[in-house]
Amino acid sequence: MRRIYEKPGQTVSRNVRVFAVLIILTLLMSAGSAFAQTQETLQKVVQEAYEKFKDVKEGRTADYIPELAKVPADLFGVVIVTAKGEVYTAGDVDYVFSIQSVSKPFTAALVMQEQGDKAILEKIGVEPTGLKFNSILATQIIPQVSVNPLVNSGAIASVSMVQAKSADERFNKILSFFDDLSGAKLSVIEDVYKSEAATNQRNRAHGYILAASDRIYSEPMEAVDVYTKQCSIGVTAKQLAVMGATLANGGVSPLTGKRVIDSKYVPKVLAIMMMAGFYNESGQWAYTAGLPAKTGVGGGIVAVVPGRMSIVGFSPRVNDAGNSVRSMKAIEYISGQLNLNLFGPGK
Ligand code: DON
Repeated sequence: MRRIYEKPGQTVSRNVRVFAVLIILTLLMSAGSAFAQTQETLQKVVQEAYEKFKDVKEGRTADYIPELAKVPADLFGVVIVTAKGEVYTAGDVDYVFSIQSVSKPFTAALVMQEQGDKAILEKIGVEPTGLKFNSILATQIIPQVSVNPLVNSGAIASVSMVQAKSADERFNKILSFFDDLSGAKLSVIEDVYKSEAATNQRNRAHGYILAASDRIYSEPMEAVDVYTKQCSIGVTAKQLAVMGATLANGGVSPLTGKRVIDSKYVPKVLAIMMMAGFYNESGQWAYTAGLPAKTGVGGGIVAVVPGRMSIVGFSPRVNDAGNSVRSMKAIEYISGQLNLNLFGPGK
């Protein structure tokens, strides 16, 4: 009855409203199911990567730092943390291991925060070496700089650039920056620190070479010591993945919402990771996984998919380049399955 009295325009507008509501409902439902599907896909791929490589025994725990040889070699964990803070895990993701060289890009980020990205470019450099992480030759090959912040010499130089009046203040600044990145309260694994401090003659040599050519910016042995402590900071695979997800999220922690790194520095950090994150295997890594990532002799690797997620593998057996074998395989697998390769067409 009522319709007889409605003007034609009113009927049209009511139909439009009903139609709009239906469209919105359909969109919401499909977005919801796509979200659920993505969550399912991410958990599935993490679990698959874990199952597929858990029995791989290649490589061995690093023993040039005696304490690292004591870490149970069979530990294995895989984690994805998305830029929105969703967490997907499989295996030993809560075991605390030493961050080692995975710390290096984050300290470079701290130096950028304090002094700008040019300071890294001009005082350290950003060229890959094609040589091992502790190569003395690499430190001598480009005399003006310490080559890049991801090899030992450049990482020691990075530490020396963190602005502080004392070694303690410098280390505490680094630690609290890592706390912000991980959204956790981290601390040094004292046994690892003591073990490396007693055996780090080679890093001390780097410190003196840098000092001899004015490429270190605090007292050299003090810088080596703070660097050694930084490498001994304990993290879990989950915490490391939050650090990576902070990079994936443009410098804002997806866990706490705090901006930790200026967005303009994030691409600089990722560029260095892409070019030098795996030392003499960086080319191979770019070729197979196509993601910026950083490795450590503690067995951790963090890879970053800008805007989307971080992927972490933790497995203490490392190869000759000092890169964790199962972590590499797991991240390569996930990158392949989800079409994450930055040089690929994407999905
Ligand atoms: O300076 C070192 O030799 C160790 N603290 C870190 C080396 C490392 O993690 C190499 N990366 N895979």
